[in-house]
Amino acid sequence: MASTRASPPLLLLLAAAALAVFFFSHAAAIHTGASLDAAAAAAASDGDGTKVYVVFTERQAAPAELSSERVASFHHDLLTGVIDDSSSAPDRVVYHYSRTLHGFAARLTDDEKNRLAGKDGVISIHEKVVYRPQTTRSWDFLGLPHRNDPTRLPFESDVIIGMVDTGIWPDSASFSDAGLPPPPAKWKGVCSRNFTSCNNKIIGARSYRDGNTTLSVLDNEGHGTHTASTAAGRAVPGASLGGLAGGTARGAVPGARIAVYKVCWEDGCSSEDILAAFDDAVADGVDVISASLGSGIPYDYAADPMAIGAFHAARSGVVVSVSAGNSGPELGTVCNVAPWTISTGAALTDRRIVTEVALGDGRSFEGSAITVFPHLGKPSLLMDPGSCDDDNLAGKRYKGAVLLCGNGDFGSSSAMAATGADGAIAYRFMDHDMDTAFSFDLPLAIVKQKEYEHIADYYNSTRHPVATIKKSVTVKDAAAPAVAQFSSRGPNMITYGVLKPDLSAPGVDILAAWSPEAPVSGSTDDKRRAKYNIISGTSMACPHVTGAAAYLKSAHPGWSHAAVLSALVTTATPMGSGEPEAEHAYGAGQVDPLRARYPGLVYDASEADYVAFLCAQGYNSSQLATVTGRSSASCSDEARGGAVGDLNYPTIAVPVLNYGVGFAAEFPRTVTNVGPADSVYRATVTTVPGVDVTVTPDELAFSAGTKKLSFKVSVSGKLLPANGTMGASAAIVWSDGRHHVRSPIYVFPHKHVM
Ligand SMILES: *[C@@H]1O[C@H](CO)[C@@H](O)[C@H](O)[C@H]1NC(C)=O
Ligand SMILES: *[C@@H]1O[C@H](CO)[C@@H](O)[C@H](O)[C@H]1NC(C)=O
Ligand SMILES: *[C@@H]1O[C@H](CO)[C@@H](O)[C@H](O)[C@H]1NC(C)=O
Ligand SMILES: *[C@@H]1O[C@H](CO)[C@@H](O)[C@H](O)[C@H]1NC(C)=O
Ligand SMILES: *[C@@H]1O[C@H](CO)[C@@H](O)[C@H](O)[C@H]1NC(C)=O
Repeated sequence: MASTRASPPLLLLLAAAALAVFFFSHAAAIHTGASLDAAAAAAASDGDGTKVYVVFTERQAAPAELSSERVASFHHDLLTGVIDDSSSAPDRVVYHYSRTLHGFAARLTDDEKNRLAGKDGVISIHEKVVYRPQTTRSWDFLGLPHRNDPTRLPFESDVIIGMVDTGIWPDSASFSDAGLPPPPAKWKGVCSRNFTSCNNKIIGARSYRDGNTTLSVLDNEGHGTHTASTAAGRAVPGASLGGLAGGTARGAVPGARIAVYKVCWEDGCSSEDILAAFDDAVADGVDVISASLGSGIPYDYAADPMAIGAFHAARSGVVVSVSAGNSGPELGTVCNVAPWTISTGAALTDRRIVTEVALGDGRSFEGSAITVFPHLGKPSLLMDPGSCDDDNLAGKRYKGAVLLCGNGDFGSSSAMAATGADGAIAYRFMDHDMDTAFSFDLPLAIVKQKEYEHIADYYNSTRHPVATIKKSVTVKDAAAPAVAQFSSRGPNMITYGVLKPDLSAPGVDILAAWSPEAPVSGSTDDKRRAKYNIISGTSMACPHVTGAAAYLKSAHPGWSHAAVLSALVTTATPMGSGEPEAEHAYGAGQVDPLRARYPGLVYDASEADYVAFLCAQGYNSSQLATVTGRSSASCSDEARGGAVGDLNYPTIAVPVLNYGVGFAAEFPRTVTNVGPADSVYRATVTTVPGVDVTVTPDELAFSAGTKKLSFKVSVSGKLLPANGTMGASAAIVWSDGRHHVRSPIYVFPHKHVM
């Protein structure tokens, strides 16, 4: 394989290396793009032999015609015959889904589940799946207008963003409702009785945990507060983390309203709770749902609660914005891959946070970490404890010393802090994730292996080695935008023929509002608290796109999910150099909200298009009914004969057998003119040797009576052995001279995927 970053040895290394544990358990709350724990979840039974299952049922009638009592009794009737013990059906039900979805969640034994599966009216039954939550200068970087522009508030204030996350810290200045009118008339949501902090900014607040909807919506993890303020926070001048990354913190749409749906708790975010949140959010009247939650692996659409919830949302015109996952740079790791969601990868911004290590001999080295501790007093002793794993450090005391951790495979920063050490210096195998700075609960500088060796040489060279770790500073990084190493890569393992992630947005070292109940570093031993914090993850990239989508909805309230996706994708700024996974890393490129507002043309799609796509995917009637909620759903022969690439998607993914093997594929597309009525667009193709792209016709003339026009893209050739990249990147740009509607085409050999 061409990409050294995706080679099998790296895969093995990652699976075995303790640094993976370091990131994903000790700093899970920080390295937020989330990961899924299906195995752990599946094993979790409730002690009485029951487990929570989500049951999709046939649609009874239009939701408006059904009282919640009738829905509940339909569910109870289904359960009554299958329950083994003396408990009643209502005792077993966790949620009734009846507002936009059709089904329920209930505690069942294996036997009960099997009996229920055989009953009429039951479409499918799913085991609980647990998701995990997956970070300001970024808006300036993207060019969105600055400040609380009063002329924008009237438009933005009609837009409601549903945040499906860890709750919110309402007292943050980022959620002030100063100058905002009461909620728009379309709003049908509520604030949970226990949550008294709703205002004209936070207009809804609900929580879901195992059927209990009365728990506090307050965010004690920080993640939900961070994502909500990134999407829609008010401009707050003078925000910083302990003086670091100071400036005005603001969201994309400071005037938009926030509705909070808390589904994530210490143990993750469960499918039955997520579905209940989607069911409510769509019925409550949100315009955009933002879910920075992810599974470590992609799930088939019919087995993915987020994909199912999102299908119903998109059908109702609600845009669903999700994170691509934090499992990069390995190929095939992108999660949340349904084409009716917008999946965002994490890019670096032009600002990097660095931490300097200064040695007693006057030399200094650049390390990676967010260190906002008071300056270490006089340079401390440098000690070499062997390996810095948790077991080895347990019970040791290193007060007054800076630890030198020499095996590239260190344990948790809390174990280091517990020794009383003033600080620590460590390196990572293969310089992994050095593009992202993380907070730890002691001054810890992570240096590259080569620099580590210089420090170790110095340590050996003198009887009284001293070193200090300075407070972090920000530096300009001219290389941005590039994709973060941790950002999950395509291909989309559920459908090779749909490009995921769709696009990229800033997700590294993002400053945004924080919960004062949550430790700065995410480590429970860390006693530091902050109003603003710097964190990274595709979780932080997702709300940038959520905010951009809300910005589009404020300008074009009637646009469908697909139209918003298309506008964001076709106007994204292409990324490129030095990214071996190319479009599989960054999708169409970096989101550009301002250009997206006037895309010229959009690739629209409706429910029928998504159904045809699922038919082409080979779905049978029960899988189709599970996703669509329509028990009568079935595929026509024509739909079965279709190709997944026929979906009117704004990007084109062309999986081919292998290098040097001839291929030819056609992609029908239809564009809708959303710009000036009388416009003539011409297609320009850019491609690379070995890949031929033709567009027929290559001119489209729109008029007042002709808003939609179709064309065909033919892609053929022989993929040449890759040079530095795995696939070949081409593109079509439709232009009328003013608008440039760009669709990337990515050709890749799927034999080389895993
Ligand atoms: C929800 O949890 C709270 C706190 O644990 C408890 O007091 C309440 O009874 C629970 N409600 C339901 C409906 O289970
Ligand atoms: C929320 O209110 C309900 C009903 O008033 C109560 O049972 C529950 O314990 C409260 N939960 C919290 C976290 O205060
Ligand atoms: C430092 O000294 C130790 C023990 O004498 C030795 O094992 C190690 O290789 C030396 N490190 C370097 C970088 O010279
Ligand atoms: C549909 O496919 C799923 C997944 O392969 C399978 O479990 C199910 O039994 C199938 N249903 C029908 C009606 O064929
Ligand atoms: C390989 O690299 C060369 C030089 O950068 C470029 O011109 C060529 O198009 C690339 N080939 C493919 C198949 O991408």
